[in-house]
Amino acid sequence: MLSLHPIPTARTRSWVNFPFHIHPSLPRISASSPTSNNNNQTNQPTSSSSSSTSKLIKRFVLSNKGRTKLNTYSDRDFYSYPRFVTHVDDKFISTLTDLYRERLFSGWEVLDLMSSWVSHLPREVKYKRVVGHGLNAQELAKNPRLDSFFVKNLNEEQQFQAEDCSFDAVICAVSVQYLQWPEKVFAEVFRVLKPGGVFIVSFSNRMFYEKAIAAWRDGTAFSRVQLVVQYFQCIDGFTQPEVVRRLPGDVDNSPLSGIMRLLGLSGSDPFYAVVAYRNFKPVYETTQ
Ligand SMILES: C[S@@+](CC[C@H](N)C(=O)[O-])C[C@H]1O[C@@H](n2cnc3c(N)ncnc32)[C@H](O)[C@@H]1O
Repeated sequence: MLSLHPIPTARTRSWVNFPFHIHPSLPRISASSPTSNNNNQTNQPTSSSSSSTSKLIKRFVLSNKGRTKLNTYSDRDFYSYPRFVTHVDDKFISTLTDLYRERLFSGWEVLDLMSSWVSHLPREVKYKRVVGHGLNAQELAKNPRLDSFFVKNLNEEQQFQAEDCSFDAVICAVSVQYLQWPEKVFAEVFRVLKPGGVFIVSFSNRMFYEKAIAAWRDGTAFSRVQLVVQYFQCIDGFTQPEVVRRLPGDVDNSPLSGIMRLLGLSGSDPFYAVVAYRNFKPVYETTQ
């Protein structure tokens, strides 16, 4: 059973507007050094997951170094105040909403992993239920699409309080770069997905630099896509991941936008999504 926070009906909260819309060319370096922080955390991530989901992991993709973050303070502290901002531009969001419109259907049960106060699900589609997850309860309580939500630091514990095979879709928008144990989280997503259910992981080139894992920070656009592809491939039972890319200029090829791009003023965030489905049976399994 899920242990969830109900969504409050009256949402008359006051909040701080935090302009945390980081541009990739402006990396933010933590004031804290990995070796000298005040909460005794090491730069080594911690992990826990149930034995049933660990069996699904064929191999680990990241090295210990690849999992490290520049800011080693607790993620809960970092997300302790709400950020009522959008993390990517309108074009990215409309591309993501179109992808959801194409792949997620009415009447479905949806888990929005690493969610916030906004939903990118199409407004006109009625899902059976949408469960949200994140690190800030105030943000999640404001999200109009969520029927319920739970707060959990996935870098400390990777289990979701959800039944096996309970969701038709799991979505994770612009957040995968913060996962230090993505293999365990992807295994957990596999566990809660119904056979045939879909997992959509989307991302751009923006990030809270100090909170992104080293393998992501040090990567290129190509290697980040490959990384997410490998997160899927290391789990026994996902279909071959499909990559969806919409890069600035894919749609608008007008001379003006070409000039803007040359001047570095194109403004639009590149869109990447990796999509895979839970197979009905692990491919190696030959028994009836
Ligand atoms: C850039 S925001 C994206 C929010 C939302 N998906 C969206 O599209 O607006 C990153 C989200 O990842 C979540 N997050 C970051 N680190 C996390 C962690 N260690 N465990 C769980 N969630 C985390 C935070 O709650 C935050 O809302």
